[in-house]
Amino acid sequence: MISALPSPPLPGHLLVEADAAAVAAVVAQRLEQALRRGAVLGLATGRTMEPVYAALRSRLLALPPAEREPLLAGWRSFNLDEYVGLAADHPGAFAAFMRQQLGAPLALAAQCLQLPDGVAADPDQEARRYAAALEAAGGIDLQLLGLGSNGHVGFNEPPCGPEAPCRCLELSAATRRQNAAGFGGDPAAVPPRAITLGTAEILAARELLLVVTGEAKAEILRRTLLEPPCPEVPASWLQRHPRLQVVVDRAAAAALSPG
Ligand code: GLP
Repeated sequence: MISALPSPPLPGHLLVEADAAAVAAVVAQRLEQALRRGAVLGLATGRTMEPVYAALRSRLLALPPAEREPLLAGWRSFNLDEYVGLAADHPGAFAAFMRQQLGAPLALAAQCLQLPDGVAADPDQEARRYAAALEAAGGIDLQLLGLGSNGHVGFNEPPCGPEAPCRCLELSAATRRQNAAGFGGDPAAVPPRAITLGTAEILAARELLLVVTGEAKAEILRRTLLEPPCPEVPASWLQRHPRLQVVVDRAAAAALSPG
């Protein structure tokens, strides 16, 4: 369902779906289409992505093996970020999330799902290695993005301009609170640092797909899309991308329409 566009006009294309399940169905279809084109995917973690990846799994597992197998064999994806200090098998690591959501159920080869190495001896060097690996793969064709409650994208915490590179950074208290659920509900247990693709790599992707659900994100989504881009809302730089598609549910879209 395409909503009436609010005024002032939104940057990018906005699709408002009834609920998170309908959002997931649309996004999973886009991801499958991208896989069929042989795209390099940029993938995200977080609760928003759980129904998306469930819908993608269902779509792919429903395909006849002769169709599914070449699609999965050609899978190439780079995740946005990873916590520093967590090994890939730590339950809070994004690597573990990706393996659980996609890698194991789809039997993807380990090298299909690329993430920064959270336990690399030198996180700054690991960020440079990861950026170089992405560049060697030709960059990202379709970048899937969630939205942090404080306006972060990937782990680009405010303040952040549009040209920040892939790097190791300190997470904000707000983000550690937001992500505490993955660490027994304790914000202090959330690692204080992460490696993230920068706004530079994200904006260099050929296509962006921003996915936002739930009323708790309505106000930050409004600031992201309708206020002039600014460092205090790193996701607002996405407005500058010529191929930004935004898929949201009605609850998240609540603050976008006037009145
Ligand atoms: C996390 C990730 C982001 C994600 C965001 C939203 O911290 N680093 O890539 O988009 O926060 O998370 P959620 O979907 O759980 O609200």
